[in-house]
Formats: sequence, structure tokens, C-alpha cells
Amino acid sequence: MTRYVPVMGMLALTILAGCSHHAKPAPALHASAYGSALAVSSGDKQLGTPGAPLPQPLVIEVNDDQGNGVQGALVKFSGPAGVSFNPAAALSDSNGEVSTNVTVGDSSGRYTVEVITTDKKGKEIPLQVNELAAGYQEMLGYEVQKKYCSRCHDPNSTPEQVSNYGNLAVAPHPFDRGNTFNKLSDADLASIISHGGPAMNLSALMPDYGSTLSKADIRAVIAYIRLVSNPPFQAPGMVYATR
Ligand code: HEC
Repeated sequence: MTRYVPVMGMLALTILAGCSHHAKPAPALHASAYGSALAVSSGDKQLGTPGAPLPQPLVIEVNDDQGNGVQGALVKFSGPAGVSFNPAAALSDSNGEVSTNVTVGDSSGRYTVEVITTDKKGKEIPLQVNELAAGYQEMLGYEVQKKYCSRCHDPNSTPEQVSNYGNLAVAPHPFDRGNTFNKLSDADLASIISHGGPAMNLSALMPDYGSTLSKADIRAVIAYIRLVSNPPFQAPGMVYATR
């Protein structure tokens, strides 16, 4: 008879474990502090591969009214269908930072990530971060523009490249300026890139790349410009397709 005792005990434990598992699906995170603002530390505007994790983590900072990092604030991440986060929620560390790995969806394009924390009164503080997934052609375009264009079109200098933007008498536009580039057709863009600024009555400070870049390279740069455009580019073909 004594042999039944441990068996019964184990049965009871199994049932108990089963119940508690259903009651608590995930370890709950409890905020021990609250911030009043969110900011991006690093990892926004990354260019990733569709369906894969972005190369760098997305790091968000929770700050108080004085702009100091807050430890122990709860930060949650969400995004459009197909986007996942590891972790999807976390507490800020001693620098006030939270880090997550973002996996973008299966198609190339822009993915807007929603970041949320709450203040002392329970009011939501939202922040939107844009990430990009580039297909093969757009990724090629990224490489081409990094090599030939960004020194003039990107106002920011990097350790590898000092920007020439500030030295130009006529300012070119960074490629994400949708208000400028969305007004230009693919043919306009190809013409400016192949024949230089004067082809479209623009400054000759915009060089011609018709003999440097192949047609495929130029198409790739245009695909990249369409991808990074903010506000997003609406392809005219999509209108015709629905008619
Ligand atoms: C030496 C500097 C320089 C380089 C390199 C350069 N551009 Fe430009 N680009 C300019 C300038 C300056 C303008 C503005 C011309 C104007 O507004 O009259 C311009 C304008 C343009 C425009 C018209 C929209 C705008 O920004 O005003 C396009 C499109 C363009 N460039 C594409 C490219 C591409 C693609 C490359 C690389 C293949 C490239 N540029 C490389 C200087 C440069």
C-alpha cells in the first residue's frame, strides 16, 4: 500500500502544474518605474532582408522629464503582420535602455514598428520606428548609391565617409525625401542619373553616370529610392492594374 503514496503525490503535482501553466502563460513583467519620453538609441531605419532578423538590435531609451534614463520601465513592441520581436516586451536597464531583435515580414518594403511605454498616470507614450526590408534589386541599389551617391546626397558623415553635402552650392536631397522624389517618374530619375542635372534643368553639380553605371545599376538605384521614400512612393502601375 505504501507504494501508492508517492504515485498519488506525483499525480496531484502533475494536475497542479497543469493548472498553474494555464493560469500563467508567460512570465509577467512589472514596471517598477515610469518614464515620460521614448527615444531611439540605435537600430532604426535599418535595411534588412525580407523574413529575416535585422542586422542590428533596435535599442530604445526611456527618459524622465530631465532626459535621464529610467530603469525598470516596461516597453512593448508591436508591428504589422509578419513582423516579430525578441523580446516583444522588456524592462529598461540601468541606462534606461531596452533592446529587441526585429524580424521583418516576407515582402520588401517599409515596416513601421510601434513602441509603447506608460507614464505614472498610466497614459501611453508611443513612438514609431521605421525599418526596411530590401529585395535583391533594392539591396543592389543600396550598394550602388553608397558607392557613388551618398557622399553628396547624405548630409551625415560616417567613420568611412565624410559627407560632401555641406560643400555643395546647390543642395541635393537625401534619397528618403519622398516629397521630392515621388514627383519624379522613373524615366525622370533615369534621365537625371544617366545624363546629369542639366538633363532636367537641374544643377551641373549633379554628375552624369550614364557611362559609369549599367542600366541595371540605375534601375536598382531607382528601386532603392522608391523603397526608402518617406512618405511612401505609390507606384503608378498599381492604379492601372485595378482598372
Ligand atoms: C558630386 C555630388 C553628387 C553626387 C556624387 C551625386 N549627386 Fe545627385 N545631385 C547633386 C546635386 C547638387 C543635386 C541638386 C541639383 C539641383 O537641385 O539643381 C542632385 C540632384 C539629384 C537628383 C534630383 C533630385 C534632387 O535631389 O534634387 C537625383 C534623382 C539625383 N541627384 C540622383 C543621384 C544619384 C542616383 C547619384 C549616384 C549615382 C547621385 N545623384 C550622385 C549632387 C550629386
